[in-house]
Amino acid sequence: MDVCHTISQFRHFRAELQGALGLVPTMGFLHEGHLSLVRRARAENDAVAVSIFVNPTQFGPSEDVQDYPRDIQRDLSLLEKEEVNLVFNPQPEEIYPAGFDSYIDAGGVTQLLEGGHRPGHFRGVATVVAKLFNIVQPDRAYFGQKDGQQVLVIKRMARDLDFPLGVIVAPTIREPDGLAMSSRNVYLSKPERKAALGLSRGLFRAQEGWASGKRDAGWLRNVVLKAIEEEKSATVEYVSLADETLTELEGDVTKPAMLSLAVRIGKTRLIDNVILGEKL
Ligand code: PAJ
Repeated sequence: MDVCHTISQFRHFRAELQGALGLVPTMGFLHEGHLSLVRRARAENDAVAVSIFVNPTQFGPSEDVQDYPRDIQRDLSLLEKEEVNLVFNPQPEEIYPAGFDSYIDAGGVTQLLEGGHRPGHFRGVATVVAKLFNIVQPDRAYFGQKDGQQVLVIKRMARDLDFPLGVIVAPTIREPDGLAMSSRNVYLSKPERKAALGLSRGLFRAQEGWASGKRDAGWLRNVVLKAIEEEKSATVEYVSLADETLTELEGDVTKPAMLSLAVRIGKTRLIDNVILGEKL
């Protein structure tokens, strides 16, 4: 496994790889969710590249990029075991040198939900992912359904800007009790970790309702809200039931939809979602 810190070094090693290349973009502090993407990329391509870069442009002014959890040695040893070929681990100045001033705005899907609560977040995500696509030149890039809106933004951007690659979406990996795996879960105290179960409990109740034929959008959103409100320390930012343009659905839901939410527990902000219907 080769680990590159500069773009020119990475391009040098990239040129030597044969066949289809799969890319898994990450911000590091890897868990089983990230590794599921790596394994999928391994299975579907001749070679795998993983990027580890805590992208400053996707953090808001009140979110401290320095506080994001990191453990590069542990990450590298996990990736080595997964037989990853190439790791790209640049410093911020390599990606955003002095004078950098070009950003990607993926339009409507960046404005709502996460975009509404974290202005500029998806501009940072779309910009860094476009740069990674250009640097890595993958045939396929892998993203987790865990960040459901991010998937919609990246698909929009890749389609609109004609990136010649497949955007592959893999299912959310959860802890045995239901909590979606996230690098941010390490911030939760023991009681907060317990309260965080309200998120998946709500989504699972809605899924059960859906399976038994419940279709009313208001009912489905409300089941989730109630489950979260059972946890006193949880503050709901939003519960959304929307189609792939993120238009909120009303009345009977007749097309595939994403039920998504953001909740604050103490100082930690958690997101989760499920798809109702077979595929969004
Ligand atoms: P990060 O939060 O490190 O996540 C990297 C990838 O892992 C994303 O595609 C994310 O959706 C996926 N992932 C995270 N938790 C998961 C889980 N529990 N199950 C399945 N997949 C999961 O998302 C980012 O980084 C950044 O925004 C990035 C795309 C790298 C751009 O900076």
